Amino acid sequence: MQQGSASKDSTRWSSRFAYILAATGAAVGLGNIWKFPYITGENGGGAFVLVYLVCILFIGIPVMMAEVSIGKFGRHTPGKSTVEVAKASGKPAFWGFIGWMGVLSGYLILSFYVVITGWGLAYIFKAADGAFGNGTPAHIQTLFADLTANGWALVGWTSLVVLGTVLVVGKGVKAGLERAVSALMPILFLLLIILAVYAAIEGDFWAALHFMFDPDFSKLTINGVVVALGHSFFTLSLASGIMIMYGAYLPEGVSIAKSSLWIAFFDTLVALIAGMAIYPIVFEHHLAPGSGPGLIFQTLPIAFGQMPGGQLVGTLFFIMLVFAAFTSALALIESSVAWLVEKRGFSRWAAAFTAGFGIWLLSLGTIAATCGLPIAIFNTPWGQTNFFDALDYLTANILLPIGGLLLAVFTGWIANKKLIADMIDSPAVFRLWQPIIKFLAPIAILLVFLQLVGIIHL
Ligand code: PHE
Repeated sequence: MQQGSASKDSTRWSSRFAYILAATGAAVGLGNIWKFPYITGENGGGAFVLVYLVCILFIGIPVMMAEVSIGKFGRHTPGKSTVEVAKASGKPAFWGFIGWMGVLSGYLILSFYVVITGWGLAYIFKAADGAFGNGTPAHIQTLFADLTANGWALVGWTSLVVLGTVLVVGKGVKAGLERAVSALMPILFLLLIILAVYAAIEGDFWAALHFMFDPDFSKLTINGVVVALGHSFFTLSLASGIMIMYGAYLPEGVSIAKSSLWIAFFDTLVALIAGMAIYPIVFEHHLAPGSGPGLIFQTLPIAFGQMPGGQLVGTLFFIMLVFAAFTSALALIESSVAWLVEKRGFSRWAAAFTAGFGIWLLSLGTIAATCGLPIAIFNTPWGQTNFFDALDYLTANILLPIGGLLLAVFTGWIANKKLIADMIDSPAVFRLWQPIIKFLAPIAILLVFLQLVGIIHL
């Protein structure tokens, strides 16, 4: 056996619970607390939430099961595991590119993920320091603009995040990843509940409930559907190598269907509760729900500056955000680290530092972009864009959906049926899963994707 191969017991999660916790930690992140509330706001609320839930249930969960099955069979990094499945199915090894593509997507995502996590880290200290003042919008605006334009500060915060990630992942699967998520996830859930209860008491609970759960289909656009599907991939950490990698560490006897349902359930629950922790406050203070990516950095702090106990609550909010983001960052770097160990024979520590250094270098592109440095801004045939927006767009809207489509095609049509059925290990579940992964998921993803690139107009 090669060193670092997940065929060894030391590179398995120690229990079903540990796996679900780690995978939930990977799934719950900025996507739930930063992105979900603001895209819900931008897309009109309830109807968008409903479409998002449908996407999670009918596309996200089946694709997650496909990925975990590949990992569980292959017991290696995503590229190699996919090759193993292809070979065992009598198909060419080039199918492994699906796994590689995932690792690449994960790596690219991580390079800007660490920067935003760094903003969150900076905001913990700002909130604790009373920097939101009395919450005048102009003041809060300046705080955010000053941070995102201050390259050196951003490099500092980002470096801390990257270093933290490296130090945990370097310790290995059980001693590093598993221990970190076991400590961070319970605190994260607790903070989230405290914040939601506080928001319900201090904010406009009913307005938030109405906004999030009372669908008004006149507000839903086809673009909203595209965003909902893309986000269901992003939030469940699909098509980014992670679920194949975590599946490779799956202990024997864990049901892929049940554990995937739990992971998706917790992930969705956190997103919905995060919405219910944010929107009551937004509505109480007559702020705009559709204010975009700045929602939690530029809108929410206005309320934190104005409300009773806002200094403490604001601090707890950003701690929660950073915990959530950090457990996802750990997952995002794991496949690259495991690959350096598996393929290049690195020690775990050397691999963690090497992968971390690469991420750190790439993160400079996003930092340069938010600082408005010309080197990170370029013209495309579609107009001007910057390094950060381009990466975000490329990963969330192109690489993840295409990766999901390929995974569905690979496990539904290319891989040996019995091999996958053995992994899923429940004939009834397999019968339900197969038509979804063969037909429903690829067709839905394709339609949405063609719509996105403007080839069709629904
Ligand atoms: N799922 C994580 C989140 O919601 C982010 C993520 C996306 C992680 C894609 C891995 C891959 O924040």
